[in-house]
Amino acid sequence: MNRIRGKTALITGATAGIGEACARQLAAMGAHLVLAARRRERLAALAAELRSEHGEEPLVHELDVRDRAAVNDFAARLDERGVAIDILVNNAGLSRGLDDLQDGSHQDWDEMIDTNIKGLLNVTRAILPRMIARDSGHVVNLGSIAGHMVYPKGNVYCATKYAVKALTQAANIDLVGTRVRMSSVDPGMVETEFSLVRFRGDEDRAGTVYAGVQPLIAEDIADNICYVLNAPPHVNIQHMVVMPTQQRSPYVIAREE
Ligand SMILES: NC(=O)c1ccc[n+]([C@@H]2O[C@H](COP(=O)([O-])OP(=O)(O)OC[C@H]3O[C@@H](n4cnc5c(N)ncnc54)[C@H](OP(=O)(O)O)[C@@H]3O)[C@@H](O)[C@H]2O)c1
Repeated sequence: MNRIRGKTALITGATAGIGEACARQLAAMGAHLVLAARRRERLAALAAELRSEHGEEPLVHELDVRDRAAVNDFAARLDERGVAIDILVNNAGLSRGLDDLQDGSHQDWDEMIDTNIKGLLNVTRAILPRMIARDSGHVVNLGSIAGHMVYPKGNVYCATKYAVKALTQAANIDLVGTRVRMSSVDPGMVETEFSLVRFRGDEDRAGTVYAGVQPLIAEDIADNICYVLNAPPHVNIQHMVVMPTQQRSPYVIAREE
């Protein structure tokens, strides 16, 4: 049964990886889409692709989730256009660097905290009250196994994903008595642009992350997100933890030679 058809979904970070795969999958299931990220050309290209595939052009919005005023303005503009968000996929996120805490870069820390925690809060604060007012909606946050177990040099990135887990649990308590659901989908290793961003474009170093392993791909996680969203209204999957079969914890990985 498809419970997603006809719903309106806002996806942050829709220009790459999991967010982009999610846009394709939700469009294929008949959702109306609102896509947000910073790279305007990629948003336009994806919108054109989805229009030619499905006959409906998504709304796209150039947005940096760290910019609280811009996020609030965006939400107000959606109201003006009569667009009510049924599904929010809080996907925009990143890691920067891999250092011992004592050697960490303040700039990397700020970028991760501002995007993964404060950016997610900015978008949630703007959209969630509108869902509560309609007593309907579902928020899916992209957590990580890094929010369940820390790994060497993962310190601040892990802390941001622990925060996503805590916020998902806390919001569910605050939402009790409403029909609004919140979930987190928490992947292990997914081959996207994630490691390229972490290592600032160093393809060789990014490649070593996935060496000798069949990682998850973005479409796997889009499948999981759609499963969570498609659950009947009385079912709230609070956390879904997903890893490649060759990975059983952040650093227990069976690599082939
Ligand atoms: N890949 C993994 O192994 C893995 C594992 C666990 C969890 N995750 C989580 O999954 C989510 C998606 O990651 P991914 O693997 O798909 O990485 P990705 O391929 O690098 O995609 C990240 C997306 O986030 C967007 N983004 C980053 N900063 C943003 C900002 N300030 N404002 C708006 N959009 C922003 C990027 O778009 P623009 O640059 O165009 O803004 C891009 O579309 C992240 O939250 C990540 O932490 C990933």
